[in-house]
Amino acid sequence: ASVALGIALALSCNAMAKDKDALQFPERAFSVETKTVESANGKHQIRYRAYRHIPYVAHPVSKEFQSLDVMVPVEVDGKPIDARHAPIVLNITVGGYLSASNTNPARRGPGPESLPPPGGAAMAGGESVPPPGAGPQGAGPAQAPRGGLPQQMGGNGSKADLALAAGYVVVTPGARGRDNKAEDGTYFGKAPAAIVDLKAAVRYVRHNTGRLPGNTEWIISAGCSAGGGLSALLGSSGDSPLYDKYLAQIGAAKASDRVFASACYSPITDLEHADLSYEWAFGPQAARTGKVDSALTAELSAANEAYQDSLGLQGRQDFGAVSGARLGSYLQQAYLQPAASRYLSALAATERDAYLQKNPWIHWDGQQARFAFADFASHLVRGKGQPAFDDFTLRAPETGLFGNRTNNARHFTEFSLRHATARGDAQLDAELRQLVDMMNPMYFIARKDAAQAKHWWLRTGSRDDGISPSVIVNLGTRLENHGKDVDTAFFWDGGHCADDDPQGMIDWIGRITG
Ligand code: DHB
Repeated sequence: ASVALGIALALSCNAMAKDKDALQFPERAFSVETKTVESANGKHQIRYRAYRHIPYVAHPVSKEFQSLDVMVPVEVDGKPIDARHAPIVLNITVGGYLSASNTNPARRGPGPESLPPPGGAAMAGGESVPPPGAGPQGAGPAQAPRGGLPQQMGGNGSKADLALAAGYVVVTPGARGRDNKAEDGTYFGKAPAAIVDLKAAVRYVRHNTGRLPGNTEWIISAGCSAGGGLSALLGSSGDSPLYDKYLAQIGAAKASDRVFASACYSPITDLEHADLSYEWAFGPQAARTGKVDSALTAELSAANEAYQDSLGLQGRQDFGAVSGARLGSYLQQAYLQPAASRYLSALAATERDAYLQKNPWIHWDGQQARFAFADFASHLVRGKGQPAFDDFTLRAPETGLFGNRTNNARHFTEFSLRHATARGDAQLDAELRQLVDMMNPMYFIARKDAAQAKHWWLRTGSRDDGISPSVIVNLGTRLENHGKDVDTAFFWDGGHCADDDPQGMIDWIGRITG
């Protein structure tokens, strides 16, 4: 009788808990699927449980965007996998700061139509910048296969598939974005909606510890471009109280939104300083060729040097301060020359000779590539308007990110606001200023009231024309200066979201959770 009573009690407690907990992971609601995944060491047959379209907040604004998919490997090449304690990859598919949908896969990340081409913003003098790949990119291998859009983790042979093949759990959340518009014409996905949604997804996963397979202390966020920026923000702003009211509004689970590690490919981030660093990196060459206003380039570049000084970063080994005046030489010594050296070492001698012939500014001593940063910079080709992010005509994606319910786009820097309004004393309102902070990982890294991921994997291409190469290096360096384990590298001649080593991230996850 006492056994029966115990069972009855357990059942009714369960029922009560279920009633109260709209955010319980539906453990039995999966289908079993199979796929073939091609990795560097051949093809793998994977059987996995697929849980799809699971709402991750109690009061969704939109179930289309605020739901997630969970993939749990059960068998790889006929061998059973126990993923109950596996790392959990949070696969961020946001691109262009647009919405990402889990219900409608066609709306996951930017399609070719939905993201304005780089350079879509008006150029000084009404001239437009050639689309990526249209002009000569300097000598070197063609960039075409890399494409100009983020390589999401969701496609065939993607890192999400490689993660499954490695026995990891993959959680893919949708998120609201700057394009979301309600029937009454109001916008519902402007900043900070995307990061609030991703935090809610992390909370949902942790809230379901023991129900959702995987080790919820091993959540690793990963994304590229806008998704890389959001991954960096998840990794740097864990449990910050700034987001609490937004998370409460949508009925997010009451759990920590810290992540264990963060992988960021070509992160489009540090947005309020991105115009400065963009002119510093891409301006001089474009100004020489008359493509942009050279006075504006000079003004923004000078402001970048002051900004860089204000960061007070210390370089690796004995480099010392990464000041504005020494930023180029730090990039060159610590990241660009090593990337070129890795690239050239891997080439056959005849290919290497041909490459060096076409790029006489690179000196090869048989093991290492050497060049001046100025020579590297003069071979960069600008891909965006001027200013690149907070453009004066409010057409760049980031001005749309900082819109609000009733305005599609707003200026988010005082520089562009003043320029566009011709009012030298114009100021951003306090609320917008806080939203700008809430979208910037650099803001959180030094703060005690936000948790940072322990481990970081930062990757980009040396020819990424979407953002200055200093942005990812500053992010990594600030993290290093605060004691984090950071692995930063450039893929030589790679473009935006380049990834020459997808298995590298998978192996890194294995090491940090090993
Ligand atoms: C993305 C690309 C951009 O050039 C940009 O400004 C913002 C986002 C992207 O591909 O996600």
